[in-house]
Amino acid sequence: MRYIISRPWFWTGLIAIIAYIDIRALSGGYVYDDAGSVIKNVVVNGMVDWKEVFNRDYWGTEMNQIQSHKSFRPITTLTLKANYVVAKYIQKYQQSDNSEEEEQQEQTKQDLPPTWTFRVINVLLHGIVTGLITKSTSYILPSSSLSSGSHSTGSPVMELIIGSLFALHPVHAEVVSNITSRGEMLMSIFFLLSFLSYAGTRQACYKQQQIYNRQSKLIQSLSTNSSSILVPWWKRLLGIYIFPWICMTLSIFSKEQGATALISLVIWDFLKYHGNLVSLQRKLFISSSNTNTKTNKSIISTKNDDDDDDDTKTTVAAAAHDDATATTAKIERDEARQFVWRTIVLAVETLIVVGWRYVLNGESSPDFIVAQNPAGFAEERFTRAFSVTWIYCLYIRDAIYPYYLSPDWSGNSIDLITNWNDPRVMAVLALWYFAAQSLWSMVVGADTGGNPEIITNNSSIGSKGNTKSSPKDNINWYWNETTLRQINMSIWAFSFSPFLLSSNILVVVGLMKADRVIYLPLFGFCILEALLISKLLQGATTMRPAFERRKEQLFWGAHFLLMFQLIIYSGRTHARNLAWSDSLQLWESAYLVNPRSYHTMYNYGYELSLKQRYVEAEAVMRPNRQCDKANVLLDEAFRVIEEKRKEGGPRNSESHLSRSESNLLVAKAHCTEDYQEKGRVLYRAVEKDQTNDYAVNLATSFMEKMQQMEELQRGD
Ligand SMILES: *[C@@H]1O[C@H](CO)[C@@H](O)[C@H](O)[C@H]1NC(C)=O
Repeated sequence: MRYIISRPWFWTGLIAIIAYIDIRALSGGYVYDDAGSVIKNVVVNGMVDWKEVFNRDYWGTEMNQIQSHKSFRPITTLTLKANYVVAKYIQKYQQSDNSEEEEQQEQTKQDLPPTWTFRVINVLLHGIVTGLITKSTSYILPSSSLSSGSHSTGSPVMELIIGSLFALHPVHAEVVSNITSRGEMLMSIFFLLSFLSYAGTRQACYKQQQIYNRQSKLIQSLSTNSSSILVPWWKRLLGIYIFPWICMTLSIFSKEQGATALISLVIWDFLKYHGNLVSLQRKLFISSSNTNTKTNKSIISTKNDDDDDDDTKTTVAAAAHDDATATTAKIERDEARQFVWRTIVLAVETLIVVGWRYVLNGESSPDFIVAQNPAGFAEERFTRAFSVTWIYCLYIRDAIYPYYLSPDWSGNSIDLITNWNDPRVMAVLALWYFAAQSLWSMVVGADTGGNPEIITNNSSIGSKGNTKSSPKDNINWYWNETTLRQINMSIWAFSFSPFLLSSNILVVVGLMKADRVIYLPLFGFCILEALLISKLLQGATTMRPAFERRKEQLFWGAHFLLMFQLIIYSGRTHARNLAWSDSLQLWESAYLVNPRSYHTMYNYGYELSLKQRYVEAEAVMRPNRQCDKANVLLDEAFRVIEEKRKEGGPRNSESHLSRSESNLLVAKAHCTEDYQEKGRVLYRAVEKDQTNDYAVNLATSFMEKMQQMEELQRGD
């Protein structure tokens, strides 16, 4: 117990859970897509056997059918299924407990299982993800490079900061509160588990190697029986190749984005132990005989600055010895070769699973609606490249300033960038510039890359001994190779890689922008923010000796500001969480943030009309009465429907078409002034699709109004 209480991951996980506990939110209704993924999903509601989960997509449609959405997420569906069974059980139990009247009340609620059973699990999953994030941080930010002086942010503090930022970030509310988005969290859990397994094993191997190297150098013989201290081969096999692979497979079958899990591992490994391509290549190809000591030294110290123990200096000192130098070069080369080998194996593993997943799609590809992602489907290359990157800029804005959150960004919610005159081009170019800089630094290392001596200088400072003794000697002390690698790691391994499949780079996705896809990628942002804070603190005290005396104030000042940010975040998260408890509130908040999307407009208006608030609904759905234009468009729409009816095919099923026709007729009725004619149009709308509640409601209220008028006239 004491062990658990002293772990940062326990606390951040707890914070994540507490942030979402709110009775109103937990017991809210089913929202929007939950109907498709839970209530009407034949796998979840038990209309077909649960084993069918392996043949059907996330909405319960068979994968090989052409209508299928092709989202194969059996793990997520199974958790929903288990959840459904438990929920039904609880419901029955409650009903038998309740008095007769209440039972009747339950029945009127269409006999749906209670939502809180689903939401509670979502919140718990978010807690688990946050815990794993916190744990992962320790492999990304090793304590040595951060500790300086008595008041610097040590590793547990960094872990707490990153974990709490992740736990409370308002962008996550969309994933946690949307029952259907559960896949995002399951995917993240397996993603992070594969990382923890890999990183844990690698770090253990690396440490053992360090001890082994030192021993062999001191004793000057490689034949000592020290192989026993190395990590046993089966542990390496399991921890590096097997377990991450299994987790990645589970991840991809929770949500497609999990496919990049192993890519993150390789990027992490590369940045942690090699840093840049030039140094990797040097290790691989320079033979041990013609290496000069200086180069070697630099490589060792570059490599060692990540290590958290004090072996570093000993190793460097020992390396000065000529024989040892040759041995070191050989060890370096072996290590580099092993890295290349690991990369190949993980790549093959990824290809196997991705290939398998691809085959499951069957003959047909998913049928995306262009209007949902106009940026990704744009014809012109310029428009596509700039608009898609602009979406990234918006995601970055959301990560930093999470105010404009909405579940829907389809259609014309975001203007495309079509020419150079658009001022947003600047932001896009800036983003490309930073990405290119960062990539380049992974090729050559820090700016000082070409000169090994400077690398030695800079990076050795990252290790404990030097930082304490002479922080002021080098103004580059807070900006060194280690920092650069950590930044690159957070960007590429923990933001870009989990985002890759939503980025429109490899495949065009079905959505232009959806806040839920940056659930896991936000991890990278949280690391970046924590790094920024710690570096600012370190930088302030080293750049200005005058600040040295104020260290304590600075430390508390920075953390006070952070606290402030977290409080704002949690307030916002709470508000978002509440909004998700009820369809009307959800679409109302969406409409306030993004009134331009027709999808949002429609949903908000629809929800309003269900609540019989017709006047408001009308105002939302018809911002300005432009019936002349509307009538022209309506006529065209009727023509399109006729064409589609002739065309046939899965997307043009009769029920689909008649619903659209019915809706169009309702729209036409709105633009009809003549009462008799209006009644006739509404009648036809109901006739076309009797399940169209909106049409039925409207027609009924129209009839009531007419009757009232008639009575009034008769009264006269
Ligand atoms: C909830 O999540 C699912 C799956 O990620 C998504 O399809 C759906 O649109 C989300 N709901 C809303 C209202 O955005």
